[in-house]
Amino acid sequence: MCLLSHLSFLQVLLVFAKEDSQSNGFCWACEKANFRCSMARTPESALECFSEKHHDLVIIDHRHSRHFDAEALSICMLTCVLFLRPDREEASVMPLINAGFNRRYVENANMMACYNELLQLEHGEVRAQFKLRAGNAIFTALEQSQEAIEITSEDQVIQYVNPAYESIMGYQKGELIGKEIIEVPKSEKNKPDLLETINSCIRKGKEWQGIYYAKKKNGDSIQQNVKITPVIGQGGKHKDRRKGSLDVRSTTSRGSDGEILNKYIIIIVNIIITYFVIQVINIINAAQESSPMPVAEALDRVLEILRTTELYSPQLGTKDEDPHTNDLVGGLMTDGLRRLSGNEYIFSTKQPHHIPSHLITPLSLNDIPPRIAQTMENEDSWDFDVFNLEAATMKRPLTYLGLKIFSRFGVCEFLNCPEATLRSWLQVIEANYHSSNSYHNSSHAADVLHATAYFLCKERVKQSLDPIDEVAALIAATVHDVDHPGRTNSFLCNAGSELAILYNDTAVLESHHAALAFQITTRDDKCNIFKNIERNEYRTLRQAIIDMVLATEMTKHFEHVNKFVNSINKPLAESVKSVLTSPENRILVKRMLIKCADISNPCRPQELCIEWAGRISEEYFAQTDEEKRQGLPVVMPVFDRNTCSIPKSQISFIDYFITDMFDAWDAFADLPNLMQHLDNNFKYWKGLDERKLHSLRPPPE
Ligand SMILES: *[C@@H]1O[C@H](CO)[C@@H](O)[C@H](O)[C@H]1NC(C)=O
Ligand SMILES: *[C@@H]1O[C@H](CO)[C@@H](O)[C@H](O)[C@H]1NC(C)=O
Repeated sequence: MCLLSHLSFLQVLLVFAKEDSQSNGFCWACEKANFRCSMARTPESALECFSEKHHDLVIIDHRHSRHFDAEALSICMLTCVLFLRPDREEASVMPLINAGFNRRYVENANMMACYNELLQLEHGEVRAQFKLRAGNAIFTALEQSQEAIEITSEDQVIQYVNPAYESIMGYQKGELIGKEIIEVPKSEKNKPDLLETINSCIRKGKEWQGIYYAKKKNGDSIQQNVKITPVIGQGGKHKDRRKGSLDVRSTTSRGSDGEILNKYIIIIVNIIITYFVIQVINIINAAQESSPMPVAEALDRVLEILRTTELYSPQLGTKDEDPHTNDLVGGLMTDGLRRLSGNEYIFSTKQPHHIPSHLITPLSLNDIPPRIAQTMENEDSWDFDVFNLEAATMKRPLTYLGLKIFSRFGVCEFLNCPEATLRSWLQVIEANYHSSNSYHNSSHAADVLHATAYFLCKERVKQSLDPIDEVAALIAATVHDVDHPGRTNSFLCNAGSELAILYNDTAVLESHHAALAFQITTRDDKCNIFKNIERNEYRTLRQAIIDMVLATEMTKHFEHVNKFVNSINKPLAESVKSVLTSPENRILVKRMLIKCADISNPCRPQELCIEWAGRISEEYFAQTDEEKRQGLPVVMPVFDRNTCSIPKSQISFIDYFITDMFDAWDAFADLPNLMQHLDNNFKYWKGLDERKLHSLRPPPE
């Protein structure tokens, strides 16, 4: 233990009335042992010296009791004390022990004898004292920790909880200690097999980390990022859970009478930081009510900061028990590992695409072929089928749906641009989506545009956004994945792609989508939909579009969702009406809107949901194939076409990213139909998984 490492500088105090061969013997021994030695001649100077240095070891000369009262002195020094006796006397040591002496040393000035005595003390008494002190230090740290910590014995009897645990969970120590964990009420929000998963992990001596819903004493569930660590120490009895299995290593590590390593289980609960933020916000709110104006205003500032800082990002463990979640987190939420040298990934499209000439057909909303118009008749319904449109338009769903939706929202009027410009713009944007991607092609963009338009019509959303926000949202949805290479950010970073280098491995794709969208829009007047708007309006619009496109980056997923919940849903629930109109909150609504639109596949009608799941899986499989081919790190190993369970991957995705986000969005925008689809789809994937099927659909009967 590193807390013991400064033992080499042991401090020794010699209390000798006068120098003689015995005191010299100890001085020499200290020098040989590399201990720091000080000498005191009187009880007063001994106490003074001790109170200054707190020696680890005190040696008191008691051969001549007339000099001072060694017993009284030793009581004053709570440390290891050696009591020096003349060699003649053989009395009981009991009074000495009572007086606080740890050892008796019979007079012997031989230097090696002194040295050996010091070594024995160092490795015995002194070390034990250090361990005690270290233990105290650790417990003090536990008591001060902001993280809730619970320690249980191996059979899950609670041994300790710290004050943070008490205040977060609402229990008093006394109500928990001595209870089995199983007796403490559990939240129903956890997956039913979670406890079994955790237990089996702990039984193997492995650490478990992941999201866990705990139930507070008042019955509320809170989401926690929990880390459970089995601790292995010496001594104690162990119930052998592996009876009958022969394991040579475990047999040999066991004592003769079945005594074996004793396990304690430490549960460190790292409450997702939002929880603290909410607590603080509540405290400040309460304080504001009874404060004079200037203080209340200052507290307003504090609240503002708390609501909008980065505090919200949870410290996500990637060691979740579920490999699918793990891979999704690793693949979508991090920017990848260090890149390997020599593996340049060259972007397939170095130059933005120009519109192939055969696609430039005169086209206006009025002369859309009836067959296509028909597939768009119900585009304002959530159940609209974008795949029909994809087929009917020969892979140009974005242009046609864009024309219809932009006209419904009066975008051309707002931008003061001719319909022909909008048409060219839509065409050139669509041309810059890669048709060869199985997921991130223009059908995905059309789908996100559709969802965005749908959300914009919800009453709450309309109340909170201005016309310029609506226009920005529709444009952002249209361009949000333009020129997507069909690979994740992690892949691009690992492969050392030009884009990853350009954007310093941060938000690589999203930065590229936003930048490229403006490049191709403004490069040519023919498709520059911003040409006729005023400079200031352009700046505002551009800012909003960029912000929304960047918000689709998944590393910030929890931050965006949590800010939305804390700054908007919570105040709304307390009917604070002004939350809807502040510019900061409009930004949060827009981010949430495009995020939900971007990953709304699991909330679509079942057939559409299944088709999207097939496409995204195929795109990830292709990435894994290429990683293997090029010797790159495989960022999402579960997405291997030979072994992947698509139902499992969908379940994890829904659990991890979708459920909480759509709960929050539904609470705001009121979307019962989406929630119903989400529920159905989740059950669909669960059903397949229970039948151990890995495919998109059950095999034909
Ligand atoms: C998108 O990819 C799918 C394959 O997953 C393909 O069938 C579809 O035609 C593509 N759509 C577009 C617009 O390229
Ligand atoms: C990348 O990092 C460099 C050095 O810190 C910085 O100068 C540059 O502006 C960064 N580029 C981007 C796109 O963030």
